[in-house]
Amino acid sequence: MTLKASVIADADFVISKLDRRLFGTFVEHMGRCVYGGIYEPGHPTADANGFRQDVMALTRELGPTIVRYPGGNFLSGYDWEDGAGPKESRPVKLDLAWHSTETNEFGTNEFMIWCKEAGVEPMFAVNLGTRGPDEARHFLEYCNHPGGTYYSDLRISHGFTEPHNIKFWCLGNEMDGPWQTCAKTAHEYGRIAQETAKVMKWVDPSIELTACGSSQRLMPTYGKWEYEVLDTCFDQVDYISLHHYMRNDGNDIKEFFAEIEALDYFITEVAAIADAVAASRRSTKRIMLSLDEWNVWYKAHTPDDLKKPGWPKAPPLLEEIYNFEDALVVGGALIVMMNHADRLKAGCLAQLVNVIGPIMTETGGPAWRQTIFHPIADCTRLGHGEVLRLKVDTTTFETKSQGNIPHLLTAAVRDPQTGNIAIYALNRSTEDAIELDIDLRGMGEWLALVAATELHHADMKIVNTKDNEVIKPVANGSATVKGSRLTAQLKPQSWNVFAIETQQ
Ligand code: AHR
Repeated sequence: MTLKASVIADADFVISKLDRRLFGTFVEHMGRCVYGGIYEPGHPTADANGFRQDVMALTRELGPTIVRYPGGNFLSGYDWEDGAGPKESRPVKLDLAWHSTETNEFGTNEFMIWCKEAGVEPMFAVNLGTRGPDEARHFLEYCNHPGGTYYSDLRISHGFTEPHNIKFWCLGNEMDGPWQTCAKTAHEYGRIAQETAKVMKWVDPSIELTACGSSQRLMPTYGKWEYEVLDTCFDQVDYISLHHYMRNDGNDIKEFFAEIEALDYFITEVAAIADAVAASRRSTKRIMLSLDEWNVWYKAHTPDDLKKPGWPKAPPLLEEIYNFEDALVVGGALIVMMNHADRLKAGCLAQLVNVIGPIMTETGGPAWRQTIFHPIADCTRLGHGEVLRLKVDTTTFETKSQGNIPHLLTAAVRDPQTGNIAIYALNRSTEDAIELDIDLRGMGEWLALVAATELHHADMKIVNTKDNEVIKPVANGSATVKGSRLTAQLKPQSWNVFAIETQQ
């Protein structure tokens, strides 16, 4: 059977300008993300800084805009001073978060050099587990103050004359989680976030700050945590964080697809809670949302994967092998994220390489693209401009967790400067193709389809390997644009991208 779906997209109906920080990722000192991932001196492709150039090339191809660092759970026991200055005098320490030995060979300045080479903005986080406002203000002074003070001169003495000017900062990580080193109650965290934010903005008023939301929507304190934290630090912060990891424990594709709806609800709910805090003070300020960890993650999740015995250095941890259905779910999440562009201003796919990453490596060997690499690259490459408010008419299917949900998920981004339009369409029917018809209104007379691609495979469990990247975009020959109408066949279980140019 072929299903039908019709969409109206009008250039005048805009959700919001898309903040390109939505397409970020995350590098944590965890497993082989840093060591053996982005940094591996001695690797055949490593440059003079020890950065793997095969991973660098794939990072550029993936196209993230912002990269969160240095954690994650690692952050809550991290002393930033350990990762600065001459490498030979850096201390080797136990990392309690991942039961590993941290050599501190790689730290803030190495990450900043890597960011410049990769062409990405850094998103830094300060430790509010074992530490507090004092270390945070010193660290910010080290990074952003031009010079003439103890910490800024320390940076200069480490070879970095110019300040790093890091704009985006997270106040701790998952502070509600009992697994966190020095977890806090909402009251304790709200206060430390408030005071830390205050002194950090005194050091550098140009920074943007994110308070920790619940570490996941399923936390028993979810909702109450967000309210109390924001009620305490509302005036000092700009964003609240969300973490969302999608799972397929029951091996049920419909329920797995419904995890995308859970993200949709999550974003709507957190925005509502932030607005309730604003309402309670009659404030026009709007706290924006930062989904600073998200991905599919459930396979590599046993205690063995989380912590290895014997305090190893950079052991393989959470090396999730992504299959085709994971790529579809990641694509669906990206559509939901874009459609929330009015409140969701940053997103970090966790993580970049090896640890639940779109890029996999062998230590000493090759690097390759996992299946989830492609929907992300499609969004970073073409997602420029304004997200359009679409009218979508589609069939639905029933799920246990989220009720009736649409077969077609779609988002459209239009650049008002160039007239270029990117349309993303996920067909969540596993049996039926969708005949898609999109009416593109108010976008000029001459629309030309410059590319139509699809990710499709009959086997949802197929994976990419270092020798065979089976899942990769191929042309969707069925797509045409005539006048202002785009029509295309979307294969069952497929991710589709249409790039359209307007000839003005
Ligand atoms: O991304 C892996 C881990 O997941 C992070 O360290 C933590 O913040 C989250 O629980």
